[in-house]
Amino acid sequence: MAEQAQIGVTGLAVMGRNLARNLARHGHAVALHNRSQARTDALVAEHGDEGTFVPSTSMQEFVASLERPRRVIIMVKAGGPTDAVIEELAPLMEPGDVIVDGGNALFTDTRRREAELRKADLHFVGTGISGGEEGALHGPSIMPGGSAQAYESLGPLLESIAANVDGTPCCTHVGPDGAGHFVKMVHNGIEYADMQLIGESYDLLRNGLGMAPGDIANVFRQWNSGDLESYLVEITAEVLGHADHDTGKPLVDVITDAAEQKGTGRWTVQSALDLGVPVTGIAEAVFARALSGHAEQRVAARELPGPSGNWGLSNSDAFIADVRNALYASKVVAYAQGFDQIRAGSEAYAWNVNLGAMATIWRGGCIIRARFLDRIREAYDKRGDLPSLLVDDYFTEAVGQAQASWRRVVAGAAQYGVPVPGFASALSYYDGLRAQRLPAALTQGLRDFFGAHTYRRTDKDGTFHTLWAEEGRPEVSTD
Ligand code: 6PG
Repeated sequence: MAEQAQIGVTGLAVMGRNLARNLARHGHAVALHNRSQARTDALVAEHGDEGTFVPSTSMQEFVASLERPRRVIIMVKAGGPTDAVIEELAPLMEPGDVIVDGGNALFTDTRRREAELRKADLHFVGTGISGGEEGALHGPSIMPGGSAQAYESLGPLLESIAANVDGTPCCTHVGPDGAGHFVKMVHNGIEYADMQLIGESYDLLRNGLGMAPGDIANVFRQWNSGDLESYLVEITAEVLGHADHDTGKPLVDVITDAAEQKGTGRWTVQSALDLGVPVTGIAEAVFARALSGHAEQRVAARELPGPSGNWGLSNSDAFIADVRNALYASKVVAYAQGFDQIRAGSEAYAWNVNLGAMATIWRGGCIIRARFLDRIREAYDKRGDLPSLLVDDYFTEAVGQAQASWRRVVAGAAQYGVPVPGFASALSYYDGLRAQRLPAALTQGLRDFFGAHTYRRTDKDGTFHTLWAEEGRPEVSTD
């Protein structure tokens, strides 16, 4: 009888290979399978000494090498390729076995697959795995969905290889069916927003102040020692401080300024539109990437009249401090919106996701890992039904203190012509949320005028319509 493996990985490109290595390094016997045998052989040849690998030459042999209940992690491209592997794998599995999808799958695909495989008594676990190739090898943040029963057998394995902060693994059961992939999707949406805000901060210091990338790198390094400490701020300093080998110029100056996207940020916004959650920071980040890619339109618009972007400032330290505060406040808004979306998804799909637990497993391993996730965890642990992160005492105070800077930066960016869609939308969201009265009252009036769509009143219950075309324009109750 071949060595029985505790878990198997099929799909041994870099992410899958590193996950298999991570599992082996933690003492688990790992079954290996890949469509092309060469990848399986290379993994064993190069890293066979890191632990126990059980290579296979077919899916049948792969499944046969696994102890019961079998646990298989699929690490192939989302969409069709994942469906193809499931179709090949599922008939070989037995009731109670677990199939894990570790790719960036769309959560609605995961819900469909989970329901389908449940008919064969197979557990399907859509799992977000964040941290890139390095995270997969050294400790990712892991966001498994699927059944509680599946997590009983799968959870300890995943927790043993996840990042660990203060003795707590960055892995927990997120909730049933597609909950894990939904939370990973929102993680990526927040990642987009975070990167957009960092980009706008860079643009303000570069074009607003005329600083060189190497000097801006030092500013981000300083910011990373305070409450902006995070992986993305840390690597921003690395990228901005890097000189291109061919030209000797700052690498950021030789990279084409057209951002690409695989789609997870777009999915987040599409889902938020369906759920009615205003994730304005994530949406602006997705659209900013799209705008940057419209090369022809941008060339045609280059001569449009407007200021140069330089603020002609004398006191750069004060400006840098203002940008830092604007970044922090806008970041709080972006995370507040992301957590609102997780709550809305949890309610819509009856997942019962614990928001504090999500902040906890994002403290390490994932791309958005940051010091202030501890504060977010504290906020939701203090009050699970917190209406918004912005009304948590700590964040109310922190954003309040940053407000003057935030407003100066947004106003100045408008005046001097630096595009800051993330900063500006975050400030408008903040002002919209706290407004005593919104112009939505007029929107309702206009809708009623042209479409008889009715409106509610502040002074009495029910819905009403004004007979705009009649003499005196009387109002009638429509209940
Ligand atoms: C992660 C990353 C990972 C991937 C990005 C890239 O959590 O490890 O988010 O999922 O690198 O999603 O996404 P874009 O190409 O859409 O920026």
